[in-house]
Amino acid sequence: MQTQIFAHRGANYKFPENTMPAFKHALKEKADGIELDVQLSKDGIPVVIHDEKVNRTTNGVGYVKDLTVSELQSLRAGTRKWWRLYHNTTIPTLEEVLKWIGPTSMHLNIELKNNGFAYEGLTPSVLDLVNQFNMMERTFFSSFNHDSLYHLQQMAPEANTALLYRKPMPEPWTYTKALNASGIHPHRRNITPGLIKQMHKYQFAVRAYTINQARTMRQMMDWDIDAIITDVPAVADKVRRQYKP
Ligand code: G3P
Ligand code: CA
Repeated sequence: MQTQIFAHRGANYKFPENTMPAFKHALKEKADGIELDVQLSKDGIPVVIHDEKVNRTTNGVGYVKDLTVSELQSLRAGTRKWWRLYHNTTIPTLEEVLKWIGPTSMHLNIELKNNGFAYEGLTPSVLDLVNQFNMMERTFFSSFNHDSLYHLQQMAPEANTALLYRKPMPEPWTYTKALNASGIHPHRRNITPGLIKQMHKYQFAVRAYTINQARTMRQMMDWDIDAIITDVPAVADKVRRQYKP
């Protein structure tokens, strides 16, 4: 199987992270899918933003959970360096992204950012939206909060979940099975060819983050990884086109 390319927070090297221009550009650069981060607004709307606070990636201040969706969307999205170029770019709702991605053939990796705040109601709202746009088959859900993925899986047994982790883990295949997940998203430093082989033996997927160097992309392809999550989808596409096993 060919290694898939997921644009991390969209093509965020070229456009503000987690915004519609970054997602649309990922499609232009031939990514197979996008990865995005979801938190919950004060009025219970899933919004696409990486941090619990808006401070780093908008011109506002405060916690996402303390702002309504209209307050969030009145902010300029993107870190300071983008503000001059992108005046009208806002924090998208998950619904806006689903509306756009539905007619494409792209896959979607929704990372639930509920490891800082538990965000009661986030998981059912996200599942409702994904179902509403008939995107369940093209979506997989990831999170560093494994408990929430376990509960998501119980709410929607047909959902694909993938366990995100940064530190080495003993026998991830045993853990993946125990949590009824369908794959793992390890930090690149935790990946070995043996790990991938063992996961594949149990038909579990391995998608690595965040791979930005061509050399590492080639190595992952040599190891038959299922997907790479990258800030630079154009580089990954070029590597994949030139790749010879
Ligand atoms: O999903 C992979 C990666 O996005 C996890 O780390 O901090 O970039 O959300 P982070
Ligand atoms: Ca993420």
